[in-house]
Amino acid sequence: MSVKTERDREVAVVVLDHPPVNAIDQAMRQGLLDAAERLDADEDVRAVVLIAAGGTFIAGADIAEFDRPPEPPHLPEVVARIESASVPWIAAIHGTALGGGLEIALGCRFRVAVASARLGLPEVTLGLVPGSGGTVRLPRLVPPEAAVRLVTTGRPVSASEAAELGLVDAIVEGELRKEAVAFARAALDRPLPERTLARARVGKANADFWAEHQSATARRARGQHSPQRALQCLRGAYEDDPAEALAAERATFLELRCSEQARALRHVFFAERAAARPPEIADLRPRPVGSAAVVGGGTMGAGIAVALWDAGLPVILVERDAEASERARKNFDRILEGLVRRGHLGAGERARHVAGVRFETDYAALGEADVVIEAVFEDLEVKRGVFARLDEACRADAVLATNTSYLDPNAIAAATARPERVIGTHFFSPANVMKLLEIVPADATAPDVTATAFRLAKMLRKIPVLAGICEGFIGNRLLRIQRAQAERLLLAGYTPAAIDQAMREFGMAMGPFEAQDLSGLDIAAAQRQSARGRGERALAPVADALVKMGRLGQKTGGGWYDYIEGERTPHPSSVVAQVVSEQSGKVSVKRRKTAGMELADLVIFPMIDEAARILDEGIARRATDIDLVEVLGYGFPRWRGGLAYYACTRGLADIVSTLDSMEADGLADSTSDALRQLARDEGCS
Ligand code: COA
Repeated sequence: MSVKTERDREVAVVVLDHPPVNAIDQAMRQGLLDAAERLDADEDVRAVVLIAAGGTFIAGADIAEFDRPPEPPHLPEVVARIESASVPWIAAIHGTALGGGLEIALGCRFRVAVASARLGLPEVTLGLVPGSGGTVRLPRLVPPEAAVRLVTTGRPVSASEAAELGLVDAIVEGELRKEAVAFARAALDRPLPERTLARARVGKANADFWAEHQSATARRARGQHSPQRALQCLRGAYEDDPAEALAAERATFLELRCSEQARALRHVFFAERAAARPPEIADLRPRPVGSAAVVGGGTMGAGIAVALWDAGLPVILVERDAEASERARKNFDRILEGLVRRGHLGAGERARHVAGVRFETDYAALGEADVVIEAVFEDLEVKRGVFARLDEACRADAVLATNTSYLDPNAIAAATARPERVIGTHFFSPANVMKLLEIVPADATAPDVTATAFRLAKMLRKIPVLAGICEGFIGNRLLRIQRAQAERLLLAGYTPAAIDQAMREFGMAMGPFEAQDLSGLDIAAAQRQSARGRGERALAPVADALVKMGRLGQKTGGGWYDYIEGERTPHPSSVVAQVVSEQSGKVSVKRRKTAGMELADLVIFPMIDEAARILDEGIARRATDIDLVEVLGYGFPRWRGGLAYYACTRGLADIVSTLDSMEADGLADSTSDALRQLARDEGCS
């Protein structure tokens, strides 16, 4: 039974117990409805406290149920029943009250929470809108600006912010159940507030308010429908009567529940959770991680140090000399300053961060660390030099991780006498923010080392993806194809601006050319150079010419675009147009006239072909790993479910035939047997 009723004299306590997160399924809805009926009929009950067992209040509707038709009783009915109960219900919140969980709490007459609780309506992040009155009751407790933020971003608020907004009536210290019952008793001595739906709305929202939020929401959503639809529901709550607004909200919820976007977002939600324990590490035992060290305090190393400290680990950052150590400290401070500026870190916490990281220049300091992460310059010999020294300095059982984005962890491991302790961990920049961690075991890596890397990812609240060894692993290998393809399209007559726009319209965070201008063209140029040194083909005639001219991107005032000093707005460049026109004469491509989605296909489909090769070679173990890498590391639209998921929604056979026609026009290399095979096998489940 997920719903139990207990008694504390005249106060009934309804306890929800449905591990792990008290998600609301059919049984819980029925249980709550029955409890509300029963308690209304009990004349001795004067108030009801609704509380949850385990680590959290209700984390929302059971997302796994969304793939099935809704089963009665439905949640709106349950919320309405609680709201209309003859005695007041008090939601006692710890952990998170999310989605349907918050909607139930909104149906209660009061909400009390512990200080660490978080409350939110994350439905939009799953391609939905609140479906049980969230958008209609919220405006009756909080001001319009806050209601828009909660509903359209899906970001939860802390208990203290919720209390300031009026969403929570009291923050309690001490034991939640006892305090909630005491709150209930005290509330009975005063006149009760009206039921939520019967209250007047807080504040006013006029047409300008909605117009402004509509354009801001559309801009942020980048093609995802749910934030806009949620905003419309909210507007209905301000402009229509409650019954009408409730009906419109429910209809929108039911429509979106079966939408492509919602399905794709659920796919990513479950893929993220499954990523932490892939079958490859199921039986492996991780080592405890109680301390960590970073070697190299550049932007990446400093970001990793912040991430480790955030995870509660004491951190040592080792640099080669006092000057480099001072630079590392400055990099570290700059990251903290940014966090303080954006309100993610208080001044006191900042001081604790600074005190908690030791900056050292002697490798002997590494002797204490359970995990050492090397984050020095991306050069094989430099990294090998570091690992040779780690041998002497580190404990025999320490995990020695290399943060590399392209280099072969085997070659790095070979520099030590204990290659079994070495593993690749590819962080993404900024390392304290980006969720993705590619974990790349070398051939000799011991199983406990791989398992420990996964444990570390969990401690850092990152999503780990197991990747095999090849240049660029999963993510940067796909990025290389994307860039090469974008450049090939320039030679076919498209401009950087047209390609970037098509990719943004597709939903990417940025187009390939503006992204390169931001990160700098020099790193990729150096990688092409070393690939050529290994006898590989690395065609990028335009990019090479630009680098030769010193056009390295924003940092040099020009790259694929021109930039006015001190600004970041890209302007089309006549120099680039000239280089493109010179290079176009040297290749044979058929010019095409496409735009929008069709143009995006020309960039994305060769990436899908490469993804099939990556899977076939075992570099990625599962298609969902490719999805996670693209969504979390490279700005692929989450609402499209990731690259492999998207390929399936477009149909593999159609993609193969488009790629074949692209090849005929000189716009793609031959389609891989791997993709053809997947298309023949209908390799999408
Ligand atoms: N429905 C079904 N299962 C859910 C769920 C939900 N609403 N929320 C979490 N779970 C499951 C997860 O899939 C995971 O299951 P698993 O262990 O079998 O993989 C488990 O609960 C724990 O979740 P996890 O996210 O790993 O734990 P956490 O402690 O890091 O975070 C939450 C807990 C509640 C903050 C987080 O799970 C969350 O944000 N959930 C989604 C909330 C939501 O969007 N609700 C609105 C639904 S419309």
